[in-house]
Amino acid sequence: MTTDLLVIGSGIAGLTFAIKSAKAMPDKEILVLTKAASAEESNTNYAQGGVAGVWDFEKDSFEKHIEDTLIAGDGLCDPAAVEAVVKEGPDRIREIIGYGTRFDKNEGGDYNLGREGGHSAFRILHHKDITGREIERALIEEASRYNNIKILDKYYVVELLTQHHLGFLVTKSSRDINCYGVYALNRETGTIEKILASATLLATGGCGQAYRTTTNPKVATGDGVAMTYRAKGRIENMEFIQFHPTALFEPGVSPAFLITEAVRGEGAVLRNHKGEAFMERYDPRKDLAPRDIVARAIDSEMKKHGTQHVYLDCTPIDQQKFMQHFPNIFEYCKNIGIDVFKDGIPVAPAAHYSCGGVKTDLSARTSIQHLYACGECSSTGLHGANRLASNSLLEAMVFAHRAFEDVLHQYNNGQLGQFNEQIAALNFPDWDALGTAEPKEMILITQSVKELEQIMTDYVGIVRTNVRLERAMRRLDLLFEETEALYKQSQVSPQLCQLRNLISVGYLIVKGAQFRRESRGLHFNTDYPKKNDLLQSVIL
Ligand code: FAD
Ligand code: SIN
Repeated sequence: MTTDLLVIGSGIAGLTFAIKSAKAMPDKEILVLTKAASAEESNTNYAQGGVAGVWDFEKDSFEKHIEDTLIAGDGLCDPAAVEAVVKEGPDRIREIIGYGTRFDKNEGGDYNLGREGGHSAFRILHHKDITGREIERALIEEASRYNNIKILDKYYVVELLTQHHLGFLVTKSSRDINCYGVYALNRETGTIEKILASATLLATGGCGQAYRTTTNPKVATGDGVAMTYRAKGRIENMEFIQFHPTALFEPGVSPAFLITEAVRGEGAVLRNHKGEAFMERYDPRKDLAPRDIVARAIDSEMKKHGTQHVYLDCTPIDQQKFMQHFPNIFEYCKNIGIDVFKDGIPVAPAAHYSCGGVKTDLSARTSIQHLYACGECSSTGLHGANRLASNSLLEAMVFAHRAFEDVLHQYNNGQLGQFNEQIAALNFPDWDALGTAEPKEMILITQSVKELEQIMTDYVGIVRTNVRLERAMRRLDLLFEETEALYKQSQVSPQLCQLRNLISVGYLIVKGAQFRRESRGLHFNTDYPKKNDLLQSVIL
């Protein structure tokens, strides 16, 4: 199969890019692949709190949003990326409103702006507590208006096509590595198809599934990061995994149901088992301190009292207001026997967001030519060592727009047209499945996934030490060896590929954590409790 533009992923990043490209380049075909059975299934669909953006210029400003983002990022943000996202963000938000996204308004008809941890102003646009579902709905509807967008679900992208597949030696130090498209498993037919494209956009989302407890759905297995790493592209700052402080404590349920930070923005208070409001002992901003601080405070309270969770007390919130803003949380809690107006909601931190990822420049270009990345799989420089709440949907839209602008420019100056002719002349081989057979024992895969989740949770969680990281690396080495052996002899399946990708992601997180001999933002190592003077990104 051949297409002009190939998009991997149908969340906010992939669909924003596809819609903009389809509109501006009606003669180009845009193919969107998604591994799930429906295009909606993505982290985007689960987003609750909303999209941050400066909206009320009387009480807020770009400068304040920039400053909040830089403070959360703890010295490692790229100021140019922060400025771009904050200043271009409101235009991107207006565009999705134009596609039909409905953000909540107050009685006066103005947008009802929420507030979350680390934000110095009310600036979060939201649709009740199901903002992501509303945005995804509007994007899918908008995409369906363009005949030149084709969305194929149940297509699992296995590898990026580079010169390596033509028999050339490609190493980390190779210059001019090119991406020519992908090999993707058509899950209906079970065959691997070669899909060639002039430009490919990675929009594969996060990797929360590397941990036992996560707010991320099953699709979040870090595929884009792992594929790029295998293709010798650059990966940045994977050690900065954000744990959301308040996932509902409900053992055995995956993904963990999120209790949005906006609930604390409206006045809910965290309490330990003794009923104490403990956040004031950790930070003057109390329950609305940045996430890394709140998650570590909860972790510390749980360890001190030997408990598995703390409580979120929602009684300070006006009941009518709660029902209007958080109807989904109210319903979910009610169904499992929690009355949010009386009972504290049991909550504990859960892996939530990957701040690092495939390194990009300000046009979303990766270190591999003709390969772009945006959204959660990318590392654009916006988040630094810790992401400010509700900045990721915004980042995905801004960088999808920037990728689109770059692609348009390259078509206009003839470069992408030329590349297209080059690809046609190259003879990429079909996928070679010789010598492989259907895996006889699925348990080898499922058990390894469990082991991986356990290793990452026990040794590479909110608080890290050198010994734990070394132990994690040794365990991952063994899992890697066993899985590669299995991969060589097995027919490709999403389960096996995801295991392989999760192991790579685990390796990148641990390696990044070992290189970072300091504690900064989301990375806290008790052997190096202070920050270094030298500001450094880890690039692998
Ligand atoms: P996703 O939306 O995750 O989409 C990834 C896509 O890639 C999916 O379609 C997936 O199927 C596809 N894919 C992955 N691998 C492959 C492969 N190998 N082959 C084919 N397809 C593949 N952020 C905010 O800003 N505000 C919030 O309020 C907020 N709330 C959140 C609440 C929850 C519970 C969660 C989990 C996240 C939240 N976030 C929030 C984070 C935010 O939702 C995500 O960072 C963002 O939606 C990521 O968008 P994306 O387009 O990059 O990836
Ligand atoms: C939340 O609603 O608390 C999640 C917001 C985010 O992850 O940005």
